[in-house]
Amino acid sequence: MKERVLITRKIFPEALALLKEQGIAYEMHEGPPLTKQELRRRIEGAEGLICLLSDRIDREVLEAGRGLRIVANVAVGYDNIDVQAASELGIMVTNTPEVLTEATADLTFGLILAVARRIVEGDRLVRSGGFHGWELDLLLGAEVHHKILGIVGLGRIGQAVARRAHGFGMEILYFDPIRRPEVERELGARFVGLEELLQRSDFVSLHLPLTPQTRHLLGKRELGLMKPTAFLINAARGPIVDEAALVEALKAGKLAGAGLDVFEHEPNVHPELLKLDNVVLTPHIGSAGRETRVKMALMAVENLLAALSGQRPPNLVNPEVWPSLVKRARPG
Ligand code: GLV
Repeated sequence: MKERVLITRKIFPEALALLKEQGIAYEMHEGPPLTKQELRRRIEGAEGLICLLSDRIDREVLEAGRGLRIVANVAVGYDNIDVQAASELGIMVTNTPEVLTEATADLTFGLILAVARRIVEGDRLVRSGGFHGWELDLLLGAEVHHKILGIVGLGRIGQAVARRAHGFGMEILYFDPIRRPEVERELGARFVGLEELLQRSDFVSLHLPLTPQTRHLLGKRELGLMKPTAFLINAARGPIVDEAALVEALKAGKLAGAGLDVFEHEPNVHPELLKLDNVVLTPHIGSAGRETRVKMALMAVENLLAALSGQRPPNLVNPEVWPSLVKRARPG
C-alpha cells in the first residue's frame, strides 16, 4: 500500500492506531529531525503531513508536496508554517487548540513559583552538598501571593493563568487586542495599556502567538519599563522577546529574573542565560502533560483524517482554502 501520510517525528501509538483503523498508510520518520532537503524529498508523494512545531514548513517544502492537501501541526501555535503559501497552494493547515490550555497554564505557574521562590537554585544547592541546615535567610525569594500579575494576551491560556493567579490572591492586569469583560467580572482583571502593565506588574507573563506584529514585542525599551524587582515569564514563543535585550536587562539588574520555556533561536539558548542563577529554563514543555500530549497527537490525526476524506477539518486555521467556502463566496 502506498503511504499517503508523512509523519515527521515519532508520535504516540494511540494516534497511529487511528490512522490504521482508517486504513491510511503512513511513513513515520524516527531519529534525528529531517533536514529541509529530506523533508522536500519525502513529502513529494504525500497527501497529508503531520508535523511538529519544530519542523519549518516553508513555501519550498509546501511546493515540493505536489499532492499535499493538509498539514496537521501537533501544536496550537503554527508560526512554523507558511500559512499564506499553504493557502495559495490550496493546502489546509490545522492546529491543536484548547486541549493544551490547562497544562500550559500549569507550567507557566510552575515557572512563576520556581523563579520567584528559587526552587531550582535550591535543588542545585542540595545536590551540590551545600545545604548545612536551616537558616533564617537561606535562599530568600520573592513572594507570589497577592502580588501583581500582568498577562500579555488574555486568550485561552492567558485566562487559565489568570484563574490560577486569582487563587493566589493576585491582582491581575492584562493587555490584549480584545477587551474581556467576563474575565474582568469573574477575576477582577483590569485592562491596561502595555506600558502600564510593564511598569506595574511584579510578574509579566506572555501568552500570545508569534506573528510579525508580536516579534520582539518586548525589546530593550519595554524591558526597561519593568520594575527591577519584577520577573518575566515566557511560555509562548521565544522571538516575542528580544533575547539579547533580556540578557542585558538581567545582567544589569533591571529585572529580578525570568522563567523561560521558549527561546528566540530554539533549540539554541543564549549562552549568557545559562550562566544566570535568577533564570529558570525549561525545554519548551508547556503542554507536556502526558494526557495533553496524547490528545494533541490524536487531534492532529483527526484533522488529517477529516481533510483526506473530503470533510472540513475541525481546527482549520486557513478557512480560505476550504472549497465550499470559496465557492459560496463567489457570486452566482
Ligand atoms: C506549543 O508551544 C504549542 O504551540 O502547542
